[in-house]
Amino acid sequence: ASILHFTANPAQQGDDAQYYEYFGDGLLVIKSGHIRDCGDAKELLASYQAAGLSLDVTDYSGKLIMPGFIDTHTHYPQTDVIGSYGTQLLDWLNTYTFPMEARFADLDLANDVANFFCDELLRNGTTTAMVFATVHENSIDAIFNAANSRDMRLIAGKVMMDRNAPENLCDTAQISYQQSRDLIQKWHGKDRLSYAITPRFAPTSTEKQLELAGQLFAEFDDVYLQSHVAENTDEVAWVKELFPWSRSYLDVYDHYGLLGKRAMYAHCIYLDEQDRQRMADTQTAMAFCPTSNLFLGSGLFDMNTAQVMGIPVGMATDVGGGTSFSMLQTLNEAYKVLQMNEQSLSPFQAFYQATLGSAQSLQLEHKIGNFEVGKEADFIVLDLTATPLMERRMAHTHNLKEQLFALMILGSDRNIQATYTMGESRYQKHAA
Ligand code: GUN
Ligand code: FE
Repeated sequence: ASILHFTANPAQQGDDAQYYEYFGDGLLVIKSGHIRDCGDAKELLASYQAAGLSLDVTDYSGKLIMPGFIDTHTHYPQTDVIGSYGTQLLDWLNTYTFPMEARFADLDLANDVANFFCDELLRNGTTTAMVFATVHENSIDAIFNAANSRDMRLIAGKVMMDRNAPENLCDTAQISYQQSRDLIQKWHGKDRLSYAITPRFAPTSTEKQLELAGQLFAEFDDVYLQSHVAENTDEVAWVKELFPWSRSYLDVYDHYGLLGKRAMYAHCIYLDEQDRQRMADTQTAMAFCPTSNLFLGSGLFDMNTAQVMGIPVGMATDVGGGTSFSMLQTLNEAYKVLQMNEQSLSPFQAFYQATLGSAQSLQLEHKIGNFEVGKEADFIVLDLTATPLMERRMAHTHNLKEQLFALMILGSDRNIQATYTMGESRYQKHAA
């Protein structure tokens, strides 16, 4: 197979700097679930042979191997409301999302959806995700058990929500603090799982709840925090009403100590210069959710400013406001969002963002995101000619850059031939 992985952010390199490695006939050597070597197949085979070491080789000739995709913001309980018609954010939450999330009090349902969700991630080549559960403690056990049985690296948290939502979906500030704390102790750091403190968004939390979320974030060194910010203009106006003292929407989170490394904010569309500077200064990450931002009519993300200011950016599907589990489809829509915003997304930048860039936004670049020796062996095998149209289109590409661009514009789950976590096969596409 050929092998592609990234070693640096293309946007922060000069024009001829080498920010990726590509081997036309490559070999990825895995030992005990980790990367042992990555390079030219002939050279590596010769050196292993010379050392008297035997390799058990799987042949993926004609295919492309890349690191597994990383989805930095998604909601597993929204799997079954994906593609619900006719609304923007606040109506969509009330009409479709909250009624579905209320059903997750049922552990059997939560387990069923969590298992489907993890299989669907793997079927789309995604090996790590940062995930919202629901307000129910059960919903966290379901998603962590599902991820763990597939050896996926996964970050998730119980939603904290104590106002402006249906009563059966609300906790209280104190209960949400205690339950989140218990769940951190139960799950955080177990195998490949990490916990994220998860206040849904400012409008559904009281000031007391945000304060306790901040207290919890300060109490534990390496837990994550995830929320939504500045997605929709009606939402932004509502936050101004609910928190009249705040300078901006982001300022509400800042006030309660909810910014910093390992904090991930979905959307980040309606931010001003000062907000962006705070995110850069605190290294708070943005999750770019293009399919969701288009589907819910939310607005256009500003990628260039984030890059120039050094704000970490992760790619995200935001299922079920987002319309696809596929990172390839997500890159396709990201390109179009940026086109509408007079920006661009080169294919190298795009695949960097979906792998190493997202790993960096989650402070996980020492564990996943590329094929550096010692990292966890999460990778995918791509079939660039999985459809009749793609077969024709690829025949008219002249170089890697053109191939990658056609892949991200035309590609989908059909291009994922196989997905591996910790060096083990978790998904193989059946022959047609
Ligand atoms: N803001 C608050 N909750 C949600 C959610 O579930 N999805 C999206 N897209 N935005 C939100
Ligand atoms: Fe979301």
